[in-house]
Amino acid sequence: MVKAAVRSSSEQDTTTAENFAPVYLEERARDHVWIHSLPWAELAEKDGFRVFDRGEGSTIYDIQGRGYFDAISGLWVVNAGHGRADIAARMGEQAARLAYASAMSFTTVPQVQLASMIAERTPGDLNRVFFCSGGSEAVESAIKIAKQVQTMRGFPRRYKIIGRRGSYHGMTYGAMSITQSVRDEASFGPYMYGVYHVPHPDRYRSDFGVEGEQADIMAAKAVEQEIIYQGPETVAAVIGEPISTAAGVHVPSPIYWQMLRETCDKYGVLLICDEVINGFGRTGKMFAQELFGIQGDIMTIAKALSSGYAPIAAAVVSDKVYEIFKEKDQVPMGHLLTFGGHPVACAAAVRNLEIFDEENLVERGNEMGTYLGQQLQTLTKHPSVGEVRGIGMVWGLDMVANKATREKFGKDSQFKKKLAQLLMERNIVTRVWDVLHLAPPLVVTKDEIDNVVGAIDESLTIAENEYASEIVA
Ligand SMILES: Cc1ncc(COP(=O)(O)O)c(C=O)c1O
Repeated sequence: MVKAAVRSSSEQDTTTAENFAPVYLEERARDHVWIHSLPWAELAEKDGFRVFDRGEGSTIYDIQGRGYFDAISGLWVVNAGHGRADIAARMGEQAARLAYASAMSFTTVPQVQLASMIAERTPGDLNRVFFCSGGSEAVESAIKIAKQVQTMRGFPRRYKIIGRRGSYHGMTYGAMSITQSVRDEASFGPYMYGVYHVPHPDRYRSDFGVEGEQADIMAAKAVEQEIIYQGPETVAAVIGEPISTAAGVHVPSPIYWQMLRETCDKYGVLLICDEVINGFGRTGKMFAQELFGIQGDIMTIAKALSSGYAPIAAAVVSDKVYEIFKEKDQVPMGHLLTFGGHPVACAAAVRNLEIFDEENLVERGNEMGTYLGQQLQTLTKHPSVGEVRGIGMVWGLDMVANKATREKFGKDSQFKKKLAQLLMERNIVTRVWDVLHLAPPLVVTKDEIDNVVGAIDESLTIAENEYASEIVA
């Protein structure tokens, strides 16, 4: 006996195949799916959301068959592009062979393969892979590893974590606590105890009122000052995205990360590099740490590890950090995730990384990304585009109400709402926050780049004319 749908304007049995025909899917979605981050007003609104059905390359198609350019690779995920039937086939083979074996005390063939492939590609001695299902779990795991390692090394009072303002590291409790960009103390506080946030490297709106590399140096010094202020003997780790995406696609000078590395070593603090978005070719290198000539003690990876074909993530730990688990060889890491390193997800990721090699995806992405960046620079002619920033295949247009003062549009800006609507009408899926994000799959073509830049150009012109009152030209 199957329960009838709570509400169904089609007033039919909800379980029949016809009722999942395109005509009913949006209605079913409205009734039953809790879409992440979407308020009811938008879910209820006609055309407030899309039900997607299939994808090919850089295009995704909704249930009406309408194609959209995936300008943000899902959520910085589908680096190898949509529609890779051979990844799907590898997953099918694995599911038929062995769908699951206990993650507690055992491993599986695809897990061993994937861990080896990751270790071959990571910077330095980041060789020990703790598998999870998503980025938040990876961050959660990294925090726990850092705290436990400090305790095992004889420093149980080192529990504090230093993050950066504007950061995003996920939505589970620990990850949300070190995230700063979407804090909601009223609903979710108190957060995890012992988290502190310092300014992130932002040359465009520096907290220190300076420009260029000086802004990065000041931001790096702020990390050291916070460690000293808190008392180094209380600090477990510093966490940051090598290139901060949520904070607005800021690419610091290598000196910033080199200073952070030196500071962490100086005070016995672990450095966690969150490469959940940055990793797997997004920044023009396999990992963004390579851009800065540094290596974290722990690195988090997710998203493009499988290019989104399956939920898989990891906290990757250096040999140096893992050493303590060999010394205290009766003590396991106090962490267990039933689906961490799921065999089918590992098989998807293995095939994904093989494709990266076969198609030189990192180099290709960097080449196309450089072209995308050059084309996007032409948009700075618009009064609402303060700056175009990025590297590799991760770009952002800093949207400003006043170019001279670099003032952002307010949260309720009609201009930004209109811009988002115009882009959707032009079949472009992206995010228009304080920054308009561009991060298509690494397989994107020049024609697709020309089309999307042209469509943004046109949309900016229309929105700027319609909401001229919001903009100081
Ligand atoms: C830098 C970073 N870390 C962690 C996460 C959390 O990943 P997930 O949404 O897979 O839990 C995200 C998600 O966007 C992210 O951008």
